[in-house]
Amino acid sequence: MTSLGALSLLDPVSCGEDLAHNARRFSELAPDHCAGCADYHIRSALHRYAGPPKLFDRPELIRLIGKIIADKAALPDKTIEIVVAGAADTAMLATCAHVAATLRVDVLKRCRFTVLDRCETPLLVCAEFAVWHGLDFDARPGDLILAAQPCAADLIITHSIFRFIPHADQVALLGRIGSWLAPAGRLILSNRILLDDDGAEAKGEIRKRTAANKAAEEALVKGVLQLSESAKTTLGRLKRSIADAAGRPGEFRSLGEVGALIRQSGLVEISLDCLAWEFAIGPGDLIRRRRVLAVLGRGMVNGLAR
Ligand SMILES: C[S@@+](CC[C@H](N)C(=O)[O-])C[C@H]1O[C@@H](n2cnc3c(N)ncnc32)[C@H](O)[C@@H]1O
Repeated sequence: MTSLGALSLLDPVSCGEDLAHNARRFSELAPDHCAGCADYHIRSALHRYAGPPKLFDRPELIRLIGKIIADKAALPDKTIEIVVAGAADTAMLATCAHVAATLRVDVLKRCRFTVLDRCETPLLVCAEFAVWHGLDFDARPGDLILAAQPCAADLIITHSIFRFIPHADQVALLGRIGSWLAPAGRLILSNRILLDDDGAEAKGEIRKRTAANKAAEEALVKGVLQLSESAKTTLGRLKRSIADAAGRPGEFRSLGEVGALIRQSGLVEISLDCLAWEFAIGPGDLIRRRRVLAVLGRGMVNGLAR
């Protein structure tokens, strides 16, 4: 495990992620491995490196994951199976690895991380992160809707994946992924809930991405960030993908909708919270966001979640 400095797994802000390195690797790998969605992957990686903050719920996730992994770590010698269902990049793998690394010396060594994604590029970048930090890691390419159970999972994280899944498929997908849980395993569902004024939110998202594009352009033009593709090609990708999340098929509109999805999936709600953030993307330009953060279990025994 790397252990010193801001890119240490122990650092609660970076969780060991090197966002400049990720931006370079996505720029190198995505054009070959994800020809149809390279713009999306490269934009996401560059925006995490250069743009306004994105992973608002990381501190809350660290708290929830910490409790779940600590409970499993209390059982001697147990391998702790952690599954990230839909990755995009190293964010969730790093968050889980950070938590395990901070718990006790031996806990990280007892964790096995499995990452599923339909795209190869995030899996390759996650695999490199795992080698760098000495993680026991397995990558599973393929569509989650068809994926076989990767293991009996102690912890499953679904972070922003449901917005990619049409509403009609969400109950089946959540039930399926939940069926991968080991007894007393836990599934964390974290996903944006659109604001009541979703038209204003969508416009705010474009302003946020425009600010992030500008910051990325500055980093490229000044040579602070060097990618394998030219600045011109990269900026073309950023421009083309400025609105690429608009019209995702599975956005949530209320906490009640998420509660109904959970009930219909057959999983048991252990906690369900709606979190809100407000942040500036420019002078006087405030953006609001809300997310659902749920912890789910497999079923009830004697009135208790198991
Ligand atoms: C999970 S989301 C984004 C998560 C990220 N933590 C965030 O907050 O932006 C995007 C990822 O999910 C993957 N994805 C979307 N739909 C999928 C599906 N049906 N099966 C597998 N992976 C999927 C995409 O390839 C992408 O890498």
